Amino acid sequence: MTTQADISAEIGARAGERGPQPRIDYPPYRSSVLRHPVHELSPVDPEGVELWAPCFGHGDVEAAEADLTIQHACEPIGERIVVTGRVLDGQGRPVAHQLVEVWQANAAGRYRHLRDQHPAPLDPNFTGAGRCMTDSNGRYRFVTIKPGAYPWQNHPNAWRAQHIHFSLFGRAFTQRLVTQMYFPGDPLLPLDPIFNSIPDQKARDRLIARFDIDRTKPDWALAYEFDIVLRGTPFESADHDDQD
Ligand SMILES: [Fe+2]
Repeated sequence: MTTQADISAEIGARAGERGPQPRIDYPPYRSSVLRHPVHELSPVDPEGVELWAPCFGHGDVEAAEADLTIQHACEPIGERIVVTGRVLDGQGRPVAHQLVEVWQANAAGRYRHLRDQHPAPLDPNFTGAGRCMTDSNGRYRFVTIKPGAYPWQNHPNAWRAQHIHFSLFGRAFTQRLVTQMYFPGDPLLPLDPIFNSIPDQKARDRLIARFDIDRTKPDWALAYEFDIVLRGTPFESADHDDQD
């Protein structure tokens, strides 16, 4: 039977590799072996792909959708937090008025999803999904509750580090990014094969939000800051120089 020690040894065996992007074929993350791309990627015309890409009207997103704690009759159980940051392009310019979506487990570490049968309680006051548009400075802001860690099926006794999923479309479909935000000080981070599929320590650390006392709302919520840079697809930038 595979143990966490076996997975940790596999993670350690690849620790000498370099690169800021996740490995798409990373055996410690078991299912990635079965579903990573194995054929040559097909170049696409960046303008042509926009003809089939999704598009959104700004009027479709309500301001209240950025607050995951007001979607039901009562407030959800959990540690209320503010999650905010700036979305920037590869040149450091703000990506303004673009869609940011998040989804996450509840405070007990359970998703409101049929396939999540983790025996932790669902919260009738928490759906776990939100979205907003960045402002003219590229800033987004969500109010939510801190998600719990949850078990998953990678190997016996596997637990995901606490995280919030992010999806960003950017200005063009080639900027599309799906990523995860983690929390500082989480003891599960060194054990998590998804987090550790990114070879560079500095690149992994960029996925950990920064606790921000200045954005904390007194007597109400702690705050975390998480900036996101959209540069293009992982395949285009797999060997891109690391950035601080
Ligand atoms: Fe998740």
